[in-house]
Amino acid sequence: MSKTLTTESGAPVADNQNSASAGEYGPLLLQDQHLLEKLARFNRERIPERVVHARGSGAYGYFEVTDEVSKYTRAAFLSEVGKRTELFLRFSTVAGNLGAGDAVRDPRGFAVKFYTEEGNYDLVGNNTPVFFIKDPIKFPDFIHSQKRDPYTGVQEADNVWDFWAHSPASTHQITWLFGDRGIPASYRHMNGYGSHTYQWVNAEGEAYWVKYHFKTNQGIRSLDGDQAAEVLGADADSHQRDLHQAIERGVFPSWTLYVQLMPVAEAADYRFNPFDLTKVWPHADYPLVKVGRLVLNRNPENVFAEVEQSAFSPNNFVPGIGPSPDKMLQGRRRLFAYADAQRYRLGVNHTQLPVNAPRATEANNYGRDGHNALNPAGRGKNYEPNSYDGPVQTDGALAAPLKLDGHTGTYTTPAHTKDDDFFQAGELYRLMSEGEKTRLINNIAGSLSQVARDDVVEKNLAHFHAADEEYGARLEAAVARLRAGDEG
Ligand code: HEM
Repeated sequence: MSKTLTTESGAPVADNQNSASAGEYGPLLLQDQHLLEKLARFNRERIPERVVHARGSGAYGYFEVTDEVSKYTRAAFLSEVGKRTELFLRFSTVAGNLGAGDAVRDPRGFAVKFYTEEGNYDLVGNNTPVFFIKDPIKFPDFIHSQKRDPYTGVQEADNVWDFWAHSPASTHQITWLFGDRGIPASYRHMNGYGSHTYQWVNAEGEAYWVKYHFKTNQGIRSLDGDQAAEVLGADADSHQRDLHQAIERGVFPSWTLYVQLMPVAEAADYRFNPFDLTKVWPHADYPLVKVGRLVLNRNPENVFAEVEQSAFSPNNFVPGIGPSPDKMLQGRRRLFAYADAQRYRLGVNHTQLPVNAPRATEANNYGRDGHNALNPAGRGKNYEPNSYDGPVQTDGALAAPLKLDGHTGTYTTPAHTKDDDFFQAGELYRLMSEGEKTRLINNIAGSLSQVARDDVVEKNLAHFHAADEEYGARLEAAVARLRAGDEG
């Protein structure tokens, strides 16, 4: 038997088809509580979308340790082979708004919330091992240049490439983005990376610098520009539909997690600055070490409650895992990035929502009140220290301390012996097959040739020349051909 329809306060609703009016032809009545409540709630359904990564898809699953890594980290969820931890993963595109199409050339977010017994661990990465910039102070400018122009209201190649003209360190990530992996066929067919360098510390207090690589077990599958345009036209929600339907069918996507580990003592003399997010550590220097398997096996029951309201923060670590001095990571972790965005988007009590609250342990602290507080501590004292058995600190540091010297100031990211803005972009280009190189050149030329100003085009071409002479020359010729065609 169906349940009785009620108002929000639980009273039965007599009529959900006709509003109450003053007579058959009369105006509507203010006393129609159900009508007022229904319309007022409807007006308030939307919340601010994420300022970046607004369009996304999420699913639950688990992480299982398959290889012994406890000698590198004392994180409890990685402590023994066979151990499983529940998780929630949200994939996303970056530049598009909430309703944007999925099959676009754009990095993909790969944000994992591990519900560990020591609290939630959020690893908020992308499907690319590097990023466009190396200092967080440039992030708002970068994002403004990639999103809609304030005057035309659409993404403009002029702005996209003008930013990159002034950001030579982006050349590596641009080479990645316009290459074959730049438009994943689905979220299931791409890798995920922590991208930043993080710290692992073991029970003896020995620290390692670590980079995470989630390799897809579905195989890499991507779309070229024409295929993507076709998919976009036919089904704007292609990634969402693919992920949801695969899980509904019981075809559970999985990824194998590997890490690269660098003993901390090796960082200072490594040929690349290991804390520069525009650089990778070649696998020949630091090979992949297998850790475990991530499986997605459950769709959220309610997209708004669980996906839209999910909140990941690179600040959420557990004992045995910590940050590195990567400035980008430091910027993301500070109050003014993620947690601040979420206090604005979801409110101060967003950590109590079921998708965000710890599951394998509980949150015990003295934070109270604010909008929509559940105050799970109930009558518990709201100050510390107290004499009533309230929660107490552990005195145990989560990660190893960083040794520092120098003076406060604004510094450029330090360059190690092999660091420049172009070498690794050139290495990536030289690794490609002839077919991959040709598609890369055509993809970049197709976008760069739309730029109106010659000086912006030239500045960008200079970056590709610096990465690899052949790369630059071929691109220059391709751009010239397209621009001549445009003018003719
Ligand atoms: C300093 C640079 C950065 C800043 C200031 C920044 C800031 C933000 C903000 C404010 C959000 C929205 C959070 C929310 O409303 O819940 C966000 C989302 C996100 N960012 Fe960043 N970001 C930066 C760099 C990066 C980098 C380098 C990566 C990847 C390696 C990344 C991956 C993500 C992902 C995956 C999301 C979506 C998380 C989700 O699914 O809810 N961001 N970022």
